[in-house]
Amino acid sequence: MIVTLEKAAQLLTTGHVVAVPTETVYGLAASIHHPLAIANIFTLKKRPSDNPLIVHLANAEELYRYAQEIPATTFALVKAFWPGPLTLVLKANLSINNIIRADLPTAAFRVPFHPLTHKLLQITGPLVMPSANLSGSPSATSPEHVAHDFGESLPILDGGTCKEGIESTILFYNGSAWEIARLGAIAPEAFKPVLGYIPAIHKITSQDDKPLCPGQMYRHYAPKAQLELCQEIPEGASIVIGFSDRTYPPGCKVIALGRSDRPEEVGRNLYTVLRDLDTANILAALVDFNIPDEGLWLTIKERLVKARA
Ligand code: TXA
Ligand code: MG
Repeated sequence: MIVTLEKAAQLLTTGHVVAVPTETVYGLAASIHHPLAIANIFTLKKRPSDNPLIVHLANAEELYRYAQEIPATTFALVKAFWPGPLTLVLKANLSINNIIRADLPTAAFRVPFHPLTHKLLQITGPLVMPSANLSGSPSATSPEHVAHDFGESLPILDGGTCKEGIESTILFYNGSAWEIARLGAIAPEAFKPVLGYIPAIHKITSQDDKPLCPGQMYRHYAPKAQLELCQEIPEGASIVIGFSDRTYPPGCKVIALGRSDRPEEVGRNLYTVLRDLDTANILAALVDFNIPDEGLWLTIKERLVKARA
């Protein structure tokens, strides 16, 4: 059910859940002051309770109200990337409810860029928002995707199709440097001019190590179709997820992600392509995985690997 900005604000401030657009993906929003609505998000999404939520703020100044022990370099990051698809994990103060943090001492914060959501946050105050998809499914990048997962009765603020189409990049501070906890819409290299270094991508080193982002433990972004990632598409392939500027063996049906020299375009289309596989009842497809190991391609590759699992 599409609702106006005013209605969305009224619902959120009275303890309801509303789907809200951001420049990355749609979020399933609740006010940080309404624990029952937050609990409802976990139920609606079928999300494990040990997977914390990102707190979305109207502006960077609010960060200083909800986080503590903020590293000095945070200011430069925030100045360069907020509003935008950057999430920072910082020590939270106690006004961030346990249910949001999943009992961690930290919380994740982001100031989104989408103009509608920026206006909404100014009225409602901070909102928690996981991606507006059922746990394990590809994220939602349009109101239609949200309605598909949650039905027509869920209130949706229609902000059109998401510009980035891929979730925010999550950084955390390890005590001496920032590291990437989740690859996202900002390429690792983009941090170099701001930080003087490219943050390392945090890797799980032993079986006992928990990933820094609890969400990384779970199955993700996956359509029902079995995906096979191929460096080269073999003759006789039947369905290929590939690029519009490449040629594939004759006879195969190509579902194009976009051009192979435009990672932003591919990022924007990725979840729609994965969701369309289910709509078309496609049970298996080969993916052209001949993709560079740099920039936004790293995020796209990571999502495809998870979509296959
Ligand atoms: O672009 C985005 O980030 C979207 C839009 C709606 O803002 N949101 C999003 O939320 O992707 P979600 O819940 O689907 O993913 C958030 C990730 C999860 O993997 C979660 O484990 C991690 O952030 N996270 C949240 N709080 C954390 C914390 N305190 N420490 C480490 N990871 C955290
Ligand atoms: Mg998600």
